[in-house]
Amino acid sequence: MDRTVAPGFSQIGLAARRRLPGWPADPAPGSLSGRTAAVTGATSGLGYATAEGLARLGADVRLVVRDVHKGDRVKAELEAEVPGAQVLVDRCDVSDLDDVRRFVKDLDAERLDVLVHNAGAMPPTRTESPQGHELSMSLHVLGPLLMTELLRPVLGGHDARVVFVTSGGMYGQRLRADDPEFTSGEYSPTTAYARSKRAQVELLPVLADRWSGDGIGVHAMHPGWADTPGVVESLPRFHKLTGPVLRDADGGADTTVWLSAVDPQPPSGQLWHDRRARSTHLLGRTRTGATERTEIWDWARDQASIKATR
Ligand SMILES: NC(=O)c1ccc[n+]([C@@H]2O[C@H](COP(=O)([O-])OP(=O)(O)OC[C@H]3O[C@@H](n4cnc5c(N)ncnc54)[C@H](OP(=O)(O)O)[C@@H]3O)[C@@H](O)[C@H]2O)c1
Repeated sequence: MDRTVAPGFSQIGLAARRRLPGWPADPAPGSLSGRTAAVTGATSGLGYATAEGLARLGADVRLVVRDVHKGDRVKAELEAEVPGAQVLVDRCDVSDLDDVRRFVKDLDAERLDVLVHNAGAMPPTRTESPQGHELSMSLHVLGPLLMTELLRPVLGGHDARVVFVTSGGMYGQRLRADDPEFTSGEYSPTTAYARSKRAQVELLPVLADRWSGDGIGVHAMHPGWADTPGVVESLPRFHKLTGPVLRDADGGADTTVWLSAVDPQPPSGQLWHDRRARSTHLLGRTRTGATERTEIWDWARDQASIKATR
């Protein structure tokens, strides 16, 4: 099942794995009390489910959203669902590197324990961020990298975790360090999206090494297929076809919440799905060499003005 996409990614896969011996235990109730978690793209789908799961474990939650009116509505919903939840709303368009810098500058936080890079989108046509970057790459890679780098002072020194919500769609694409912004060939939304998600996964070893000195762990998880507004909007035919077997948003967010709270924190730099570390490749043609990985890191660092030294 682990190597077959349809059953493994669906609700069936999650339900079956949960029943198997060795399914890791749920984090203890209250395991995040006294901790603060920030979740990007928390207005909808998996982001909302993640914020709720973290709040249920006792975390103070910061909803990082691009539309604060929506964010305020979600905060009220979350507070009604989880009595006593401590929730704040912060504005940030993660694809806009200037806005990421402004967000970090304005953030009034002394300490952050969990940072979930969940915000995601699949632009139907090739779209550019305010800085002229292809949008999927800016939203899924450049913005999150810059945000984490700038937040290192509040993340460092206390077993903090950074979780990238990637996609199983990356299994079909190899890293394109030679054309990270999809400037050549006919643009395809699913390919651009999957390439950016592949880049998230390929950068894991680099980031794990870079942030280890601060005691910050970095993890990626792929949620399988979950029924969310994003899937309805971006993949309507897929949604219609797979609707009955899609996971609910809580099922899609389960591993993110688990990685955020499990004690001890798992080793940094791995890809997870349904609470288990997974291979980052299922196909030989997607394998990445160290040179390409260094190239994509140098490119991303350069575009986001991240210093080369740790
Ligand atoms: N659902 C699945 O089956 C599935 C599978 C694989 C991976 N994923 C990944 O899971 C994550 C969540 O997806 P979802 O299915 O829950 O989708 P969703 O319902 O569309 O939620 C996406 C969230 O991202 C936010 N967002 C989009 N662009 C943003 C930006 N520039 N800055 C800040 N926030 C932004 C959206 O905010 P607005 O409300 O303002 O639009 C929304 O809160 C994504 O990274 C996606 O790639 C999902």
